[in-house]
Amino acid sequence: MARFRLSSLLAFLCVLENAVALPQGYSGEPNFNLKPLLTDPIRKWSLNTTVSFPSSSAFNASTERWTIADPPTYVAAIRPGTEEDIGKVINLAKTKRFPFLTRGGGHGYAASLGEFQLGLSLDLSQWEYLEIDKKAQTLTVGPGITFAEIFDPLFNDGFYIQTGSCSCPSMIGVTLGGGIGRLMGKYGLLMDALQSVRMVGADGKVMTVSATSHPDLWWGIRGAGANFGVITSATYKIHPLVNSGNVFVADFYLPPERSREYFNMVEANYSNMPANLAQVMVGIWNRTTSSVQLVGNWVYYGTEKEARKVLAPVFNLNATSSTRIVQWNKLVSSSGFDEFICQPNQPRSLFSLNQKIYSADGYQAGFKKIEKYLYDHPGGRDTTLVIENFPNQAVVAVPDDSTAFPWRDFKGFIQVNFAWMAGDEATARASNKLGEELRNQFAATSGYSEKTVFVNYARGDESIENIYGKRKLPRLAQLKKKYDPSNLFAYNHPLPMHYH
Ligand SMILES: Cc1cc2nc3c(=O)[nH]c(=O)nc-3n(C[C@H](O)[C@H](O)[C@H](O)COP(=O)(O)OP(=O)(O)OC[C@H]3O[C@@H](n4cnc5c(N)ncnc54)[C@H](O)[C@@H]3O)c2cc1C
Ligand SMILES: *[C@@H]1O[C@H](CO)[C@@H](O)[C@H](O)[C@H]1NC(C)=O
Ligand SMILES: *[C@@H]1O[C@H](CO)[C@@H](O)[C@H](O)[C@H]1NC(C)=O
Ligand SMILES: *[C@@H]1O[C@H](CO)[C@@H](O)[C@H](O)[C@H]1NC(C)=O
Ligand SMILES: *[C@@H]1O[C@H](CO)[C@@H](O)[C@H](O)[C@H]1NC(C)=O
Ligand SMILES: *[C@@H]1O[C@H](CO)[C@@H](O)[C@H](O)[C@H]1NC(C)=O
Repeated sequence: MARFRLSSLLAFLCVLENAVALPQGYSGEPNFNLKPLLTDPIRKWSLNTTVSFPSSSAFNASTERWTIADPPTYVAAIRPGTEEDIGKVINLAKTKRFPFLTRGGGHGYAASLGEFQLGLSLDLSQWEYLEIDKKAQTLTVGPGITFAEIFDPLFNDGFYIQTGSCSCPSMIGVTLGGGIGRLMGKYGLLMDALQSVRMVGADGKVMTVSATSHPDLWWGIRGAGANFGVITSATYKIHPLVNSGNVFVADFYLPPERSREYFNMVEANYSNMPANLAQVMVGIWNRTTSSVQLVGNWVYYGTEKEARKVLAPVFNLNATSSTRIVQWNKLVSSSGFDEFICQPNQPRSLFSLNQKIYSADGYQAGFKKIEKYLYDHPGGRDTTLVIENFPNQAVVAVPDDSTAFPWRDFKGFIQVNFAWMAGDEATARASNKLGEELRNQFAATSGYSEKTVFVNYARGDESIENIYGKRKLPRLAQLKKKYDPSNLFAYNHPLPMHYH
């Protein structure tokens, strides 16, 4: 890992040991044979709809995932070309009672996905529609579009938008669970930029969901969006570039002896960050020095002059640092780390939490434990402790009751991202034990009274209250019952049909 520059570290994932109790979804019958059903000429699939089966490269492509820990399994895949065919798949699944799973970018890691066995992959990867309306200042994308594909077109037209910090997940996939990122202080969650979506519902029919069309569902998809249907396009508000799209980036490298001093500075000077500043802190094993290192990666959306002023308390520590100015569209790809973190087909185990306050005590205690783990477990040295300090001005500016999203007061995230070589069970066990311990410990200094985590980062063994929020659940359950009464969309942090 020493060869990567750590300016855009983010990470994630899960070995799913404690599966959540699922509502009654369809369960695949072992050896359920979908082939005759899907290949029957009576289906009259559109010319650009393709069906594939195991042992083909098309099937592999339609079922590939970011993490291979406790994955969903498939007996067939379909790459629909039209909304009509998506509707046909939904109706067929309902009549013939087989499970299907919508696939956007394949980066989901909910424990509940492991409950999906021997089903059909509904692969949306060919939906690569992208349109920028300069006059209306909107971007419309299909579910096959990842962040990687929006950076250049938007930038070249003079716009930008809040995104996640990696290039690989589906933009719509990230939106459906909230969508946090460095610009959330300035523009809110990615779902706050949504203006409308097109969705094929559980009845197989296409609908527009917006403030004026199915407003009850509009509330629900913004916070629990994977639960109601298949989204075929989404339209977002975009913003004219600031500072010609130039972004100031600074990385600070500290030895473990200075971690306490660094965390104290973060708590003292950045507990209320300006809206256009963001930090990702990473505790990592440095293979060059064979020691643990703390890296602070700061991004400022504005001029270098202002950035240096705002970052004076960090520069004043005299830590080793490197700074640069990058264009917004190159921010994610130029991190040097993006390609590594985006590698598919790896086993990963992630423990994550929201944080509402920045606690130097909490950070230091967690950092010490990761430091010890990295020294003790050579097989786990690709593991990282990631702490995201993101401002939330524009997130709290959106009225809490206007969407289903429950955690508008958060100011960041903690993720322990364990990684080990496939087959190294001893390191796997040590990782999952420490992950549990660290999650409990960090929760105590997170500013929340429980282990809360927003949908996209959830491991899936948390209570639904700690993912969706107790206040939002009664209304979400009602929506689930109304829009997906057969519980077809039951595998990604599933909502209950009843909640009191
Ligand atoms: C490397 C990496 C970086 C990440 N960075 C961020 C980040 O910066 N901010 C953030 O908030 N989250 C981030 N995440 C979490 C990410 O938002 C979720 O994992 C998300 O579910 C990924 O969506 P996907 O379409 O790529 O994955 P998939 O596995 O394809 O989708 C996950 C689930 O979402 C549902 N779904 C996906 N597409 C559709 C659709 N079009 N219609 C209906 N349902 C759909 C399905 O139920 C599916 O099972 C990151 C994850 C990874 C692995
Ligand atoms: C590891 O440490 C060396 C020496 O301090 C430094 O040059 C290098 O950038 C570090 N590597 C990473 C990945 O931080
Ligand atoms: C599909 O993936 C499997 C498992 O990774 C692999 O063994 C197989 O060779 C692949 N098949 C094709 C045709 O790509
Ligand atoms: C598939 O073909 C139809 C008919 O030509 C077209 O309207 C549709 O956009 C195509 N689908 C995709 C995902 O490109
Ligand atoms: C940073 O915090 C320290 C300790 O509270 C304080 O003395 C200093 O003035 C702060 N710096 C800035 C720029 O606010
Ligand atoms: C950083 O260097 C300056 C100039 O040499 C010095 O005044 C200051 O005390 C140093 N700060 C720390 C935290 O070492």
